[in-house]
Amino acid sequence: MCGIVGYIGNSDCVRFLIDGLKRVEYRGYDSAGVMIYSGKDRSNVLIKKTGRILELEKNIDKNISGNIGIGHTRWATHGEPNDENSHPHVSNNEKIFLVHNGIIENYMSLKKKLEKHGYSFYSETDTEILVNLIQYNYKDDIEEAVKIALAEVKGTYGIGVFCLDEPDKLIAAKLGSPLLIGIGNGENYFASDPASILKSTAEVVYMEDGEIAVITKNSVVHKTLTDEIVKKTVETISIELSDIEKSGYSHFMLKEIFEQPRTINDTMRGRLMLEEGAPKLGGLTQHPEIYKSLLNAEKIFIVACGTSWHSALIGEYMLEEYARIPVEVEYASEFRYRDPIITPKTVVIAISQSGETADTLAAIKEAKRKGAVTIGICNVVGSTISKETDAGVYLHAGPEIGVASTKAFTSQVITLALITLDIARHKDMSFRQGYKIIKELKLLPALAESILENSEKIREIAHKFKNASNFLYLGRGYNFPVALEGALKLKEISYIHAEGYPAAEMKHGPIALIDENMPVIFIAIKDSIYDKVVTNIKEVKARNGVVISIASYGDDEIESISDYVIKIPETTNLLSPVLTVIPLQLMAYYIAVERGLNVDMPRNLAKSVTVE
Ligand code: M6R
Repeated sequence: MCGIVGYIGNSDCVRFLIDGLKRVEYRGYDSAGVMIYSGKDRSNVLIKKTGRILELEKNIDKNISGNIGIGHTRWATHGEPNDENSHPHVSNNEKIFLVHNGIIENYMSLKKKLEKHGYSFYSETDTEILVNLIQYNYKDDIEEAVKIALAEVKGTYGIGVFCLDEPDKLIAAKLGSPLLIGIGNGENYFASDPASILKSTAEVVYMEDGEIAVITKNSVVHKTLTDEIVKKTVETISIELSDIEKSGYSHFMLKEIFEQPRTINDTMRGRLMLEEGAPKLGGLTQHPEIYKSLLNAEKIFIVACGTSWHSALIGEYMLEEYARIPVEVEYASEFRYRDPIITPKTVVIAISQSGETADTLAAIKEAKRKGAVTIGICNVVGSTISKETDAGVYLHAGPEIGVASTKAFTSQVITLALITLDIARHKDMSFRQGYKIIKELKLLPALAESILENSEKIREIAHKFKNASNFLYLGRGYNFPVALEGALKLKEISYIHAEGYPAAEMKHGPIALIDENMPVIFIAIKDSIYDKVVTNIKEVKARNGVVISIASYGDDEIESISDYVIKIPETTNLLSPVLTVIPLQLMAYYIAVERGLNVDMPRNLAKSVTVE
C-alpha cells in the first residue's frame, strides 16, 4: 500500500513527481501529496490533497517548480484520508520532510517519548511520529539522524527523506516495503515501483531490507543501517512502457483481460518439453536440494490471499489428483497465527501476484521458522516474497495494474499445473498423460482468444444484470474455486454482493435466497461432474432463479435449462479454470462499467496489501 517517488537533479521535478505518482496510484488512491524544493532562498512548497492524484495535480500552481521533490499516494491505515493525514509529513521545526510506505508499529510509545520532549502532532499518522523522531535525533547530519531513528522503529518502511538544512541530498531506506533507486544522467530518483521512473531511466538499483541510500544528483551511496558500504548492481528494468500504459483500452483491467492469450503463453514459454511429456522449471531445478524436497514432499501447504488463494485451491485439486500429495490451502493470515503441523517433509508454497502481501510474507516467515522448505509463485520479479522463499517460479505475466487481478490468476493456474506435472512425472504419471497435458497447455492461448472474441455477447448479458443486488456463482470440482473468483471479481469492482459456492452446497442454505431476481451463474462445462451440475441448475430453475451458464461448445442440452448461455471451448479438467474464469472476468468488468464505477481503482482497495 502507498506509493512513493523522489527526484533530485537539475530539471523541474513537478511533472516527474505527478507522472510517477500516477504510475503507483494502484498502490493507494485516497490522498496524495508532494514537497517541492526550488532552491531559491531555501523555499519549498508542500501540497497535500484528499482524493486522487488528479486532485493534487489541479492544486499545483503552474508557477511552482523545483529540482528536488518527494511525493506520495496513500492508502490510509492510521487516520482517515484527509489533507492533514496525507504525506509528505513535516517535522515540528518544518525542516524535515518524509514520505513513507509501511507501518511503524511502535509509534504510540515513540509518540509518548516525543511528547515528553515537547513535540506536538497535527495528524493521526505513524509517519508524523517518524519524521519527528528524525528531527529529535538530528544534530547536523540527516543520514545519521535517519539511521538512529530507524534503529528505534519496529515495523515496515520504504521511506524518502529531505532536510532543508542539507538540500543537496535525499535519503531513502527500506525494510519490508519495496523501494528502488533510478539512475539518471545528472539526476537520480527513488520509487516504490519501476513503473514510476521508466520514462526517465531503465537503470535501477533495488534496495534490500536494512539498507539506506544517500542520493545526490550525481551519486548514490548504499549503506547498511550500521554504516557499512554496500556494493550494489545496477539492473535494467525489463518492462516496456507499453506494459504499463492502457494502450487504447479504456481500463487496465480490460487490457489485462485481453492480454491473457499472450500472458498464458509467456508463463509457459521455454518451460514445456513435449518430447519428455514434462515441464522444466528453472527457478526450481537451479536449487537442487529444494527441488528434491518438493518432489519428495509428504505434505504441501499453499498459503495466499484473495485471488491468489483461489488459484491455490485449484492447485490443491491438481496436486492431489495428479501428484498424489496431500495439500492444505490456507489463508495466509490464518496460517501465520495458528499452529500448523510442519514436519521435515512439509513444503509451503506461497502464491502472490505482487510478492509483497504482508500476510503471505508473514506466513512464509512462520513456515521457515518451523523448518519448512518454501517456494514462491510470484509475478513481480525481485519482490519480497520471491526473495524470502527458498526457490520459486515467476508468472511472467507482465505488470498487472488493475486492482482486480485477472491475468495473474490464469498464469497462477498454469504455473500450478506445471509444478503438478513436474512432480507427477517424477512419480506415477505416464509419458502419454504428461504429453497430452502439455499438448492441451499449448492450445490454451488460442482457446482463450476465442472466448475474448465472444466478449460482445458477455457485454449484452452484463447490461441486463447491471442492476441486480445479489449474484450467486456455482461450480464444482476444479471450477468451484472459479465460482469463488467470479464472485470476488464482481464484488470488488461493481460493489454488488456476490457469493461463490460449490454447486451442490447450494441446497444446504443459499437456495433460500433464490427467486426471480437472483441471477445464478453456473460453470457447467462438459466434465466428469457435468450431470451433477445440470441437476443443480434444474433445482435453481424450479425455484424461478435466473440461470446464466458457462457451458461447452456443442452442449445443446444446457440451452433448454438456462436463461443465458456463454459457450467456451473445451480443455482437459485441470486446465479448465483458465478458460472458465475469462467470461466471469468480463462479466464483472462490463457490469462495473455499466454502473459507472472506477474499475481500475475500486473504493477502499489497493493493489498490493502490505499491511496486516
Ligand atoms: O498480490 P497478491 O496476489 O498477494 O494479492 C492478494 C490479494 O490481495 C489480491 O488477490 C486481491 O484479492 C485482488 N484485489 C483480487 O482481485
